[in-house]
Amino acid sequence: MTQDELKQAVARAAIEHVPSGIIGVGTGSTANFFIDELAKIKHKLDGAVASSEATAQRLRKHGIEVLDLNSVSELSVYVDGADEITRHMHMTKGGGGALTREKIVAACSRKFVCIADGTKLVDLLGKFPLPVEVIPMARSYVARQLTKLGGQPVLRQGFTTDNGNVILDVHNMQIMNPVELETAINQITGVVTNGLFACRPADVLLLGTPEGVRTLT
Ligand code: 5RP
Repeated sequence: MTQDELKQAVARAAIEHVPSGIIGVGTGSTANFFIDELAKIKHKLDGAVASSEATAQRLRKHGIEVLDLNSVSELSVYVDGADEITRHMHMTKGGGGALTREKIVAACSRKFVCIADGTKLVDLLGKFPLPVEVIPMARSYVARQLTKLGGQPVLRQGFTTDNGNVILDVHNMQIMNPVELETAINQITGVVTNGLFACRPADVLLLGTPEGVRTLT
């Protein structure tokens, strides 16, 4: 099976976790497959909250109403992909640059269902560079602080987030304690948020493998 077929399989499996009402929808290629599956059951939905402009556009293209998060008190479920995930459900996200809105929508959701192909499951986070969204004027200051934490920040070239900020991709970061590191990076002035999703981990992982979709909780 190709990686895309594995992503499609988990996107299909995630539909079983979608109740009626309003749900949160992630960003990226796996989330895109999920949106395509969601379109088939759109009659069950009252709408969706999108974690990026790209996701909002794709939802609308399928005729799914996109709602402002401020008009919704709580979401039953948030479905999204990940760049890396551990058995403890800690993730690195933000490869697509949507980490801040993803983290906000995840925070408002009772259940986080992570959908990922088998290559994303790792013992230790850190091989995938850790994205950090930064207010543009603080870029150099934040980069120096991230270096002090042991990483090698690299500015994502030609990229601006949906919030008008820049991304520093931090290479070679030792991520032994994801909760501690997520908190420490968020303390740096000028950081909007970082791509560690450990303080609020996933609740369910649907992992695409050649043998089928594995459910981890
Ligand atoms: C976007 C993300 C994505 O969930 C992550 O990059 C995984 O993407 P893909 O499903 O394309 O592998 O965090 O900001």
